[in-house]
Amino acid sequence: MSLLSCTGLTMRFGGLAALNRLDVQVEEGDVIGLVGPNGSGKTTFFNVLTGIYTPSEGHIVFDGKDITARNPQEICRAGIARTFQRSRLCLELTVFDNVMMGNSKNLNMGFWHNVICRRAFFQECRDDEERIRLMLKALNPTLADKIRKPVGELSMIDRRRVEICRALTGRPRLLLLDEPSAGMTQDETRQLMDELIAMEFEGNRPSIILIEHEMSVIKRISSRCIVLNFGRKLCEGSYDEVTSNPVVQQAYLGTEVV
Ligand SMILES: Nc1ncnc2c1ncn2[C@@H]1O[C@H](COP(=O)(O)OP(=O)(O)O)[C@@H](O)[C@H]1O
Ligand SMILES: [Mg+2]
Repeated sequence: MSLLSCTGLTMRFGGLAALNRLDVQVEEGDVIGLVGPNGSGKTTFFNVLTGIYTPSEGHIVFDGKDITARNPQEICRAGIARTFQRSRLCLELTVFDNVMMGNSKNLNMGFWHNVICRRAFFQECRDDEERIRLMLKALNPTLADKIRKPVGELSMIDRRRVEICRALTGRPRLLLLDEPSAGMTQDETRQLMDELIAMEFEGNRPSIILIEHEMSVIKRISSRCIVLNFGRKLCEGSYDEVTSNPVVQQAYLGTEVV
């Protein structure tokens, strides 16, 4: 059984089919590069997967459960986490606070528990800080030293690292990355992706779907590529297979390939 199985996924906005009968399978351990021209439906796919939009048609089965009409909180709890194309960090808050926002499923003790059992509450906060420090360190050794810094003081690559840690804090089984390279150089993007692939933390190795324009990054880390065009799957295969496919070249370049 696949970790994720999407069948006939269609998302219409008025007369526009941003996704059109899309079938996608993700296996445990996959790193999938999701590519396609601007407006081809990549972000919409993530939005439908994470419950921001309910698909017009089709089904999403994750880890054996139908999650098609679930809300974003339920989908996060089921084990799918994401980052966003445009950074969504609170710049005035610290690295710790921003990462903790991804940990909401574990902050479930309630207000009165925290007021009455203050000692337990403070211990829980200390444990969380230690865990997040170790997580930051596992991604990048220097990041852990910045745990108390406001995110607004960090470089772009560190901000992207924080976003990835926030997505990882709930131990997802599937991680969706929407153009993590935005605002970074090619070298920085490559470095960030290498760090993510090499990261060892709590034995959790989520499968990954990566939307990325920088094809050298896709080549470097993906085990399989899916190409979208006008909301449809244009082709799927290894990096070499899809990039040598004339139909893909035509979709990107908009010209006949001879
Ligand atoms: N909320 C929305 N309302 C209307 N149209 C949308 C909405 N979200 C996306 N679209 C449209 O769906 C298409 C696919 O967009 P998107 O998934 O963002 O593409 P990509 O991420 O591949 O660049 C575009 O034509 C976009 O304008
Ligand atoms: Mg997009």
